[in-house]
Amino acid sequence: MKISVIGTGYVGLVTGACLADVGNDVLCVDVDPRKVERLQRGEVPIHEPGLEPVVERSMKAGHLRFTTSYDEAVGHADIIFIAVGTPSGEDGSADLSHVVSCAQELGRRLRRDSLVIVKSTVPVGTNDMVREAIRGELKKRGVGFGVRTASNPEFLKEGFAVADFMKPDRVIVGADDEESIETMRQLYAPFNRNRDRLIVMDVRSAEFTKYAANCMLAVRISFMNELANLAERLGVDIEHVRQGIGSDPRIGPQFLYAGAGFGGSCFPKDLRALIHTADERRQACDILKAAVDVNARQRRVLADKIKQHFNGDVKGRTIALWGLAFKANTDDMREASSLAVIEELTAAGACVVAYDPVAMPNARVQMRDNSLFTLAASAREAAEGADVLAVITEWLEFRSPDFEWLASTLRAKGLFDGRNLYDPATVRAAGLTYYGIGRV
Ligand SMILES: NC(=O)c1ccc[n+]([C@@H]2O[C@H](COP(=O)([O-])OP(=O)(O)OC[C@H]3O[C@@H](n4cnc5c(N)ncnc54)[C@H](O)[C@@H]3O)[C@@H](O)[C@H]2O)c1
Repeated sequence: MKISVIGTGYVGLVTGACLADVGNDVLCVDVDPRKVERLQRGEVPIHEPGLEPVVERSMKAGHLRFTTSYDEAVGHADIIFIAVGTPSGEDGSADLSHVVSCAQELGRRLRRDSLVIVKSTVPVGTNDMVREAIRGELKKRGVGFGVRTASNPEFLKEGFAVADFMKPDRVIVGADDEESIETMRQLYAPFNRNRDRLIVMDVRSAEFTKYAANCMLAVRISFMNELANLAERLGVDIEHVRQGIGSDPRIGPQFLYAGAGFGGSCFPKDLRALIHTADERRQACDILKAAVDVNARQRRVLADKIKQHFNGDVKGRTIALWGLAFKANTDDMREASSLAVIEELTAAGACVVAYDPVAMPNARVQMRDNSLFTLAASAREAAEGADVLAVITEWLEFRSPDFEWLASTLRAKGLFDGRNLYDPATVRAAGLTYYGIGRV
């Protein structure tokens, strides 16, 4: 099939590359010329395990190309994915300006009947809006091609995006006509061989399903963080509790990890967007609001613990930080907890020396105005001679450090485990003071 994908970020690039890998002829279009130039050279601008070989293979086979030209993208395909960003607007609503701009660009150029599939996470009603915006432009041109839209929200996880796309748990298809549903069936057939993973529903329910999934996961995390803070006061270890409740099949083990708050490009903005939608409709959404409030508090917990270790005065102290990405296996730092920790500590006069296996180029850009923030070439270099160490991201390489060495090099002997990665007794036995989240 001939497919165009608009937006070559974490979702658009993975979608385009994976669809090309199974033999489709895919053209990806993006407004960022530097990104497109890099992609045309075969460089993958994001860190996503397994993506590079898929891009390389598909480009070599002639199935995957990149352009900045909408004319080319529209001329190429009659199936067009919209996978541009939907960041938070100032009032918390999803900023749909990129999506609307795509719709207008399409409407100005479409030359035949087309199916436009919205993959971006968008509020209920957006697909209708996209279709009307395209039709409005077609009307101005005096042409009447049949434009159908379908909702196909994406559920890939950064760090596992290729695997998630190739072997999805489910593919949500929101469409109101049989022809679109049939096209989507064919499109996903190569990823759908051993059982039918397509869940077909109406467009509005599909749009809502994506928000429901992300908000559910975010609520679970905030729930565990709230319990973790209480556990600390009660002399309870939240890690035991996590295992105890996670083994209940009604609850399940995922997304029960207490930590330094959630971040990333999706949970925070999707929570805000759904709350905005509910507020607009004057509909209560207390649980979602509580999840946001708990998370805002939780993002400060690690910095507060560090300050307490120094009796409130961290001025002139050096804090080593392991991990900048919002989670392991990605370079994405959007709304990462590390940013909150760095801001709190440097605002109080501490120096932060950080290391992350892949997110440092992003950190360099984000932190360029913070003179108290520096980067180290390795985890060891970051910790060497620092006062204390805080671990923010659960990268594999941080899972089993040399605690004896850490105890010998950290001057104020504190290890702040923002992911509950370590056994407190082992850390203490090495001569360090251990601080976890919700642990005795
Ligand atoms: N990142 C994730 O893990 C994830 C997972 C599921 C769903 N989503 C959703 O998918 C959407 C995309 O997320 P992302 O993380 O890939 O975003 P991203 O910011 O990584 O990428 C968006 C891309 O779109 C391009 N773009 C913006 N406006 C454009 C336009 N008018 N025409 C062409 N290109 C344009 C940008 O230059 C950028 O390259 C969002 O709605 C997001 O909520 C993201």
